[in-house]
Amino acid sequence: MCIRDRIVSAQKLATNTQFKAYLNNDFNSVTAENDMKMRSIFIGPNNYDFSKGDAIISYAKQNGFRVFGHALIWHSSIPDWLVNFTGTDMAFEELIETYIKETVAHFSQEKIILNGQEISVVAGWDVVNEALNGDGTLRESIFLKVLGENYLETVYKMAEKYDSNADLAYNDYNLCKPKKREGAVKLIKSLQKNGAKINSVGIQAHWQLTSPTLEEIETSILAFSELGVKVMFTELDISVLPNPWELSGAEVTQNFKKFEGDKKMNPFPENLPDSVKEKLAKRYENIFKLFVKHKDKISRVTFWGVTDKFSWLNDWPIKGRTNYPLLFDRNY
Ligand code: G3I
Repeated sequence: MCIRDRIVSAQKLATNTQFKAYLNNDFNSVTAENDMKMRSIFIGPNNYDFSKGDAIISYAKQNGFRVFGHALIWHSSIPDWLVNFTGTDMAFEELIETYIKETVAHFSQEKIILNGQEISVVAGWDVVNEALNGDGTLRESIFLKVLGENYLETVYKMAEKYDSNADLAYNDYNLCKPKKREGAVKLIKSLQKNGAKINSVGIQAHWQLTSPTLEEIETSILAFSELGVKVMFTELDISVLPNPWELSGAEVTQNFKKFEGDKKMNPFPENLPDSVKEKLAKRYENIFKLFVKHKDKISRVTFWGVTDKFSWLNDWPIKGRTNYPLLFDRNY
């Protein structure tokens, strides 16, 4: 089954009725854009704030949606108190294990009846997000430094231990580029060989009008499904604005301050010309035709937002632009 999924925030669910109405009409699964990340939850040692995640779970439960948890371990979402951790390696590992345990156990408690079966509202977790560099090697991070080069195996085993029913995913961007795809294939094979559970790979689809090509996307669908994991297209949005890189990507640490206010980089501040609208519609059509062709291999498609108005792409990689990446415009 292909689950249509949208990202949300607890605040928008609480305050925006239009947002809720559109979610209910067209989608059956939601992902929190930020509310279930480590920075939102793990506010101190033995101190957890599940409130925003709970609001999303409760909304999902009332409306018959499932939730895909994003993300347990991500180098970009480490709370400040933990980034500067100075304790022993063993103490760090214990903190991470307790955080994974508390988080997955907490969210697995809420159940929903679907097709006559009682299951957890939370279908699964992006256990590790963005662990790879562009060349397919492991990215430097506190997790790699302290837990060692087998850290993914360690944390996937922890996640399985505390919620054995959850689908466990690896999620990353640029997985349609050959080197990074090869790195991810190697990583998944190594998890499988070492007995860690991995059900799916999340291909973050922060894409452009022409890149990646449909062929590159298809090559990735085939390469990952050959490993026996399901393919999920997560974080789908299509930027129509000039890309300050030659290459596509979602590296959050880049800084393009020099382009702020540059009209060439923000060509559609009022509205999107029809010619570009058509290109965007055609691009979505082609992508979804490919998804349908491979629907037996794809378990979920997630858009990274509902309306263009709130898309992260209005402020990244250049702040203050007007982008049109999603299905709904600024008036829904
Ligand atoms: O809510 C606060 C606001 O109160 C404050 O005034 C403002 C000042 O900076 O910050 C607001 O929080 C921001 C939050 O987005 C909500 O807009 C954070 O600073 C900002 O860091 C956060 O960015 C998120 C980013 O991940 C980092 O967590 C984006 O919304 C979110 O779309 C983005 O999502 C990531 C995926 O998780 C992983 N893949 C890449 C993708 C894009 O970077």
